[in-house]
Amino acid sequence: MNSDIIIKLENVHVSFWQNNVGVYSLKDLITQRKSPFKSKTIINDISFEVKRGESLGIVGRNGSGKSTLLRTIAGIIKPKAGIVTVNGTFAPILAIGAGLEQELTGYENITLLLSLYGIPRKNTNAVANIREFSELSDEALRMPVKQYSSGMVARLAFSISLANDSDILIIDEVLAVGDQGFQIKCVEKIRQIKNQGKTILFVSHFPDGVRDICDNAILLEQGEITHRGLAADICEQYKMLF
Ligand SMILES: Nc1ncnc2c1ncn2[C@@H]1O[C@H](COP(=O)(O)OP(=O)(O)OP(=O)(O)O)[C@@H](O)[C@H]1O
Ligand SMILES: [Mg+2]
Repeated sequence: MNSDIIIKLENVHVSFWQNNVGVYSLKDLITQRKSPFKSKTIINDISFEVKRGESLGIVGRNGSGKSTLLRTIAGIIKPKAGIVTVNGTFAPILAIGAGLEQELTGYENITLLLSLYGIPRKNTNAVANIREFSELSDEALRMPVKQYSSGMVARLAFSISLANDSDILIIDEVLAVGDQGFQIKCVEKIRQIKNQGKTILFVSHFPDGVRDICDNAILLEQGEITHRGLAADICEQYKMLF
């Protein structure tokens, strides 16, 4: 793969097994000779490349396949067909709170995730940076994450992921539940990360954020790319869906 290209998808298909409507009982199963499950295509023949240092926005209606696409790129979902090549390391913020342990406190989650990122637990700077960016109080960080509001979870998850110094930042709807102050701060931080030359994949329902952060974008509809181009143009296409 050309070294300028950091992510490449070639004819990627993803499907999931889902309940087969109309098969409710053993009798249905025998008389209708239908399987209780059917395969549903979620990502349909998607190909694109992301250049090193590019920020790509991914927009589309609920259920159009955006998170599935990110999970496939992150290697969490195996495509049914096609090839995904990633030529770098990534810090995925795939869903708000993904990777956080509910029973552990904020501090315990920080320690756990920092050790997974290979950052020594004695690195108090890393902990202080997370605490500062999240704006969570010492008291809040001593509480189990299961007691957090969704905004607090978003603050903790996003702040921890900033400690992961990787080539690619994968962000799925991180702005959705934070309050306005935190949203502005996140957009500013993501812009800084972009200016450091990192590659960003940014899923969001907020066209302004996509336009602000991304160079290019794709619009997904029912698992297919219907439009691709400059982020500003694709945001206009996205708005026309509603
Ligand atoms: N693990 C799964 N098993 C079965 N179906 C799934 C699974 N994950 C997602 N789907 C289905 O895949 C489709 C796309 O879901 P996905 O979460 O990728 O959409 P999305 O574009 O991220 O939506 P949203 O804007 O609501 O976050 C949906 O129809 C969903 O029901
Ligand atoms: Mg999603």
